[in-house]
Amino acid sequence: MRQFPHDFLWGVATSAFQIEGATNTDGRGESIWDRFAATPGKIADGTDGSVACDHYNRWRDDVELMRWLGIKSYRFSIAWPRIFPAGRGKVNQAGLDFYSRLVDGLLTAGIEPMVTLYHWDLPQALDDKGGWTARDTVSAFVEYADEVSQVLGDRVSKWITHNEPWCISFLGYGNGEHAPGHKNWGEMLAAAHHVLLSHGQAVSVIRANVKKAEVGITLNLVPAQPASPSAEDQDACRAFDGSFNRWYLDPIYGRGYPQDVIADHVAAGRIPSEKLDFVKPGDLEAMAAPTDFLGVNYYSRGIIRSDRIPESQNAPRTVHAEAEKTDMDWEVYAGGLKDLLVRLHQDYKPQRIYITENGAAYATGPDADGRVRDTKRVHYLRTHLEASLEAIQQGVPLAGYFAWSLMDNFEWAYGYQKRFGLVFVDYATQKRIPKDSAHLYRAVVARNGLDVELAA
Ligand code: FCB
Repeated sequence: MRQFPHDFLWGVATSAFQIEGATNTDGRGESIWDRFAATPGKIADGTDGSVACDHYNRWRDDVELMRWLGIKSYRFSIAWPRIFPAGRGKVNQAGLDFYSRLVDGLLTAGIEPMVTLYHWDLPQALDDKGGWTARDTVSAFVEYADEVSQVLGDRVSKWITHNEPWCISFLGYGNGEHAPGHKNWGEMLAAAHHVLLSHGQAVSVIRANVKKAEVGITLNLVPAQPASPSAEDQDACRAFDGSFNRWYLDPIYGRGYPQDVIADHVAAGRIPSEKLDFVKPGDLEAMAAPTDFLGVNYYSRGIIRSDRIPESQNAPRTVHAEAEKTDMDWEVYAGGLKDLLVRLHQDYKPQRIYITENGAAYATGPDADGRVRDTKRVHYLRTHLEASLEAIQQGVPLAGYFAWSLMDNFEWAYGYQKRFGLVFVDYATQKRIPKDSAHLYRAVVARNGLDVELAA
């Protein structure tokens, strides 16, 4: 019997900017993603988030969809510029009311809310003052966390401070693919530091406001393997794991920043010296505030090849990507999820882990009969749920799984071309059509296990 623990938390995940639309409604302020999407060339299909899935107006229908799916929990994010249109200072009551109604609607439907405070839509007013590179943004975030947890804390117990600090800092300030679109290693490291510091400081504030608070952070993690056993590939793999995974995990779990990665940055001339000026006394302790869970977003693994020596001088590749790739060009590799969970359990011992995102982009739309036969997503979902179950059987304290995503949505710099939803969205009409993967997920949730068949 391939059954999950009886209290396993089945859910789906979304984020505010990707689904809400209504960017000028009810006093919402501008966010860095409004500004970024309005800048020509930044979004692949030239779209923006002004309408998205129109969830701001259709949230009741979307809650009905979730009720139909049978999920126990919904992970969504709060748009900071709806609460503080200018980043800090004056609260916008209408923004708070929207999330308050949503939370009530979820609870009435028997669905437990899980709130992410920051899923990338920083108020533009804060970016004007340096965004995450500015230390002041840390206290602005803590004020925001305080306000939201005071208002929703009587009904919401599960809180995620940040979604994916690597994306916030690397994509936002390192390679510039995401808002605010900067390209500077020093800024990237400072941004990462301030994000992690604001996480640590917010933990105690949320706990003070919420009686039975469960607080954590969500990291996107990529288990890596060297492409060959060569010393160069092994070192490249260490460096990748260091900058992608350990740079965030180590400080959260009280180990400070990994010295080997700092040395890599200096050696590569990305920063002038090993002294990280933005680290102030007490910061590392604050970042290591004990959490109740670790949120893990898993999509694929990394197969790491060194670029320090010419390809011809390197050992032949022994690890190859499996043939199947999603529309993101990400390899479908469920084994990586199990390996990652086991490693996290062994190396960092989080009290509990939730998979807060996992999913696949495939553009499959409705057939002539209206049904969306997203066979590849069904396969992705099944294999990754099997990997999750194996991890549980190996002793990993995995307490829940949130599919990314409830429905197709605005996939950041890709616009609407990449479809991750269990539910298809026809953007012209806003009609939602549950895909085959939604039917599969519904059956898995109802059974609390994997012995389910889909109608042909
Ligand atoms: C993650 C993001 C989420 C979505 C998925 C595909 O990095 O957290 O918003 O874009 O990737």
